[in-house]
Amino acid sequence: CGIVGYVGNRPALSIVIDGLRRLEYRGYDSAGVAIIDSGLVKTEKKAGKLANLEKALAERVGDGIEAGVTGIGHTRWATHGGPTDRNAHPHVSVDGRVAVIHNGIIENFARLRAELEATGVEFRSDTDTECAAHLLAAEMRTLRESGAEDGPALLAEGMRRVAKRLEGAFTLLAVDVDVPDAVVAARRNSPLVVGRGNGENFLASDVSAFIEHTREAIELGQDQVVLITPSGIEITGFDGTPATGTEFHIDWDASAAEKGGYEYFMLKEIAEQPQAIAETLLGRLSERGEIILDEVRLTDQDLRDVDKVFIVACGTAYHAGMVAKYAIEHWVRIPCEVELASEFRYRDPILDRSTLVIAISQSGETMDTLMAIRHAKEQKARVLAICNTNGSTIPRESDAVLYTHGGPEIAVASTKAFLTMLVACYLIGLHLAQIRGVMYADEVAAVVSRLRRTPDNLRDLLGRMEEVRALGRDLKTASTMLFIGRHVGFPVALEGALKLKELAYIHAEGFAAGELKHGPIALIDQGTPVICVVPSPQGRGVMRDKVVSNIQEVRARGARTIVIAEEGDEDVRQFADHLIYVPHTPTLLAPLMTTVPLQILACEIASARGYDVDQPRNLAKSVTVE
Ligand code: G6P
Repeated sequence: CGIVGYVGNRPALSIVIDGLRRLEYRGYDSAGVAIIDSGLVKTEKKAGKLANLEKALAERVGDGIEAGVTGIGHTRWATHGGPTDRNAHPHVSVDGRVAVIHNGIIENFARLRAELEATGVEFRSDTDTECAAHLLAAEMRTLRESGAEDGPALLAEGMRRVAKRLEGAFTLLAVDVDVPDAVVAARRNSPLVVGRGNGENFLASDVSAFIEHTREAIELGQDQVVLITPSGIEITGFDGTPATGTEFHIDWDASAAEKGGYEYFMLKEIAEQPQAIAETLLGRLSERGEIILDEVRLTDQDLRDVDKVFIVACGTAYHAGMVAKYAIEHWVRIPCEVELASEFRYRDPILDRSTLVIAISQSGETMDTLMAIRHAKEQKARVLAICNTNGSTIPRESDAVLYTHGGPEIAVASTKAFLTMLVACYLIGLHLAQIRGVMYADEVAAVVSRLRRTPDNLRDLLGRMEEVRALGRDLKTASTMLFIGRHVGFPVALEGALKLKELAYIHAEGFAAGELKHGPIALIDQGTPVICVVPSPQGRGVMRDKVVSNIQEVRARGARTIVIAEEGDEDVRQFADHLIYVPHTPTLLAPLMTTVPLQILACEIASARGYDVDQPRNLAKSVTVE
């Protein structure tokens, strides 16, 4: 998840390690370096924290690795293959001449791997990255055999050839012993910046890695290859045409740089949501709009045999589970219960071999959820985990796992992890419906095409959140806030209230809008802010009209109404003291939009009240006690 490259006249190792340390905030589970020295690529890589890597390096003093002036380094957040020494990057080609590090996901790696294995290459890891190392070595061999002149330009050409063969999202960095004064990189859909030094140049996932050496940076465009040497930076498209990046001067301090210029990690993570969703979808949708979840190791027959689904989770993940219940029951037509993991086993639920238990957990370490799945396994149920952390305990103890690929989340309050959990739930729901033949292929394809549009929709929405921020500042003195919604808007209301409690320490509650009149409406006082999540008028118009009636009920009792509605719903304006529009999505997918203004609102209120948004009091990111 963190990438650093250096070429210049100083020892690369310490610069690379310092850079990795500056990128530690991005989260990682293993680390490694490759340095070119005396005609060899010298690598070291270790699972765990940087300290493990440094310890291993300390034992090698004198072997030259600390002297080489060209190097690359990586901190990995496991996607394909668990967080082990052998899966850590760099990956080196069989001939030992080329080393590669990578961020992102190579979608077609299984095909590439099979092809390379057929030529006799033996793989030494479970990663998608390793195939890039072997491919680059093969391309370099071919280029050299063709008589092309060796040197940095040849390395750039080799990388372009590799990049053209890869599908997915990637930033790749590579070094080749025979081109000792160069580092080459390719970028598609994953972050990469160049740092321009004096007699030295840098590459990194973000500027914080090199900010102490240079403040002149270049941002690369999509599908570009960049070659750095001590004296030059050359950018081309994958097709070889010369290109230019966007030059900029970094005026942030190191702490702002880590946050990509945002004030809080939470704001950065909110902004990353379109990309995070895109990564969750990557490799899981066919061009024809089918769901491909071969990675979920349950057979089609297992999935056909399921007659009941239980979802277990805690906190925000539980809210994702609540949304999933609506989607799974609607699409798959089998009963689906959602249960707080901490309550699950005490209720003595009825489980057997044909029960599918879906455990949702960002960290994969939540003890309540872990205990729930252990109980489910004892009762012979099959357990499928939805998790953001590769190799963590919950996926390890489950029968199957679908990783969300949202990337590490640093802020304690969950944002992008929540949206990517939702996407994973939708994928599982559609997959079940497809396998069990309850949805026609074109029905699945129709939802898939809408899912594919959500990153763009979300980018639109995020681009016009200024008013929500202002509203947040205005609400900073509120002492209580209520959230209402129906159908999937109900879990969104709960999630909005949870965010506000977690961050702003304001009493907040979420209700099913229809339940208001049975009690909670007594809480409404003059000026009580009530946030109302309004369903789309398209599709299930009845539901939308009912929520609009509920808005009128609270307004009549003095509430200040903050309405989240779909663009084009003009009629709702008359009932809204504040109106926030979100792009149209089919009803079941709407939480991917409607949750986002609530995240921003909570963040802004907390910040206006002077609280630490990323580290709220009394809370931990992952709770490993029951
Ligand atoms: C803690 C965190 C919450 C999180 C919950 C579940 O309570 O503070 O933000 O939603 O755990 O975490 P998990 O890692 O299992 O998704």
